[in-house]
Amino acid sequence: MNSWNEGYFTDSTYTYGYYRELSPIFMRWCLLLKGIAAPEITEESCHCELGFGQGVSANIHAAATPGKFFGTDFNPAHAAGAKEMAEASGANAKFFEDSFEEFSKREDLPTFDSIGLHGIWSWISAENRRHIMEIARQHLKSGGMFYNSYNCLPGWAPASPLRELLVMYDRYSGKSGAAKGRVSDALKFVEEMLAAKPAYLNFAPNFAKIFEGLKKHNPDYLAHEYLNLDWDLMYFADVVEISQEAKLEFATSAAPVETIEKLNVTAQAMEFLKKIDNPIVKEQAKDYFINRQFRKDIFVRGARRITLAEQIDKILEMRYVLSTSVENVPLKFASTVGEIKLAENVYRPILEFLQEDNFRPKNFSEYLKRNPTQDQKTLMEVITLLVNGNYIMPCQSEAAVKLVKKSCERLNAHICERSKFEDAINFLASPLTGMGINANRFQQIFLLQYKNGDKTPDKLAESAWKIIFRQGQRLIRNGKIIESPEENLAHMKTLTETFLTKQLPLFKALLI
Ligand SMILES: C[S@@+](CC[C@H](N)C(=O)[O-])C[C@H]1O[C@@H](n2cnc3c(N)ncnc32)[C@H](O)[C@@H]1O
Repeated sequence: MNSWNEGYFTDSTYTYGYYRELSPIFMRWCLLLKGIAAPEITEESCHCELGFGQGVSANIHAAATPGKFFGTDFNPAHAAGAKEMAEASGANAKFFEDSFEEFSKREDLPTFDSIGLHGIWSWISAENRRHIMEIARQHLKSGGMFYNSYNCLPGWAPASPLRELLVMYDRYSGKSGAAKGRVSDALKFVEEMLAAKPAYLNFAPNFAKIFEGLKKHNPDYLAHEYLNLDWDLMYFADVVEISQEAKLEFATSAAPVETIEKLNVTAQAMEFLKKIDNPIVKEQAKDYFINRQFRKDIFVRGARRITLAEQIDKILEMRYVLSTSVENVPLKFASTVGEIKLAENVYRPILEFLQEDNFRPKNFSEYLKRNPTQDQKTLMEVITLLVNGNYIMPCQSEAAVKLVKKSCERLNAHICERSKFEDAINFLASPLTGMGINANRFQQIFLLQYKNGDKTPDKLAESAWKIIFRQGQRLIRNGKIIESPEENLAHMKTLTETFLTKQLPLFKALLI
């Protein structure tokens, strides 16, 4: 039995996720979209991530954001992995193996411009939440940004007994060790119970559906989500109240679409919400209309409003880059009020503008000059939705890009090198945007080999095939393993052709 883990599940390590919401650059952009000033990000800035897990986000942001990066995670395997990546990138990063309590007592911490935590708040004790508030109280600068995500009520109310069943079964099974067996035993128990039709199902008709969705997740994720001693669901208003301990004020959501009310709640709900003056009561009421289960909140320590004119000016003057080709951007998306169709005649020209000159990053003032009839309000909505879907990304200044280019290059080389042997980190750092970008194992191997001089589809296919063949691995096509070396090589070549024509130009534009 571990004693350092305070009831947190540590029998297996966490998944290698990346979350742009933890990026200081993204937090800043979300605040700007809401008309709130945020600290400039410079070489002097300091940022911090609490509970960084495998450290993918922390390392990508440390490498791709100017300034210093700090972070802690009390799991020694997580801390060791994060430190190894930081050494490889050479970023100005200091990662610790402290618990939140230990970190809150450190005397060698600077004042942070931003503090972020993702997937932590609901899964730790009240005492640990107080330690986090203490870290923010002592170390977040005036005007600083604070990102927190959590499972919330009322959305989770009907399904929370599901988690109780899973954790209760696991606790009394007396088992410890790897997540996989424990998770599957607990899932089997619930499955059999649901088949026996408990009366509870009549009151929570979604229970079985939620359970089906949950079964599809990776066991390590499920263990960290459900098998911790602590799992506290909170209302938004409660989190707001606790956050006041560190003088934090709710500013906006890290989901940009939430700034467009009509895409989140019905017209009838908007009529009702209009009558509420208090912003906290209004935001809390929205969670009932949306039946929200998870919140991604950005707080600030002292919100300073900027004028609408300044806000629009800053959003339009910033450069943006496509993160995918135009044909991959769906002109519809699922929202909480149903499917939203995007006007092709508005979106298509904007996307094509961004694709011009090999995806060269561009600002929207340039677009408005060329298209003087385009109204600004619609353009702001288009930018909001495209950033929301991560189809376009805001870019850093050219000076910032220069500062972080080398560390991103080194981090990406390290991640790609690891991909030769394992399929773990599916992201690379873009010095242009300061954020991570999806890159699967093969794209990473191709990129590595391309940079090593294999520039044609044939050469790339040969060298990539050699790497996986040596490890006894084979390619999979349409769900089936390809057996013969010739067919593997031929399929690899089709992959390298797609890589060179579709993916590489985007990587180049993103300065990866
Ligand atoms: C669900 S994981 C999320 C990791 C990462 N933020 C992500 O989203 O990929 C939670 C992390 O918090 C760390 N953690 C939990 N309690 C902690 C504590 N009291 N002090 C420091 N780290 C803690 C765990 O080790 C784990 O890596």
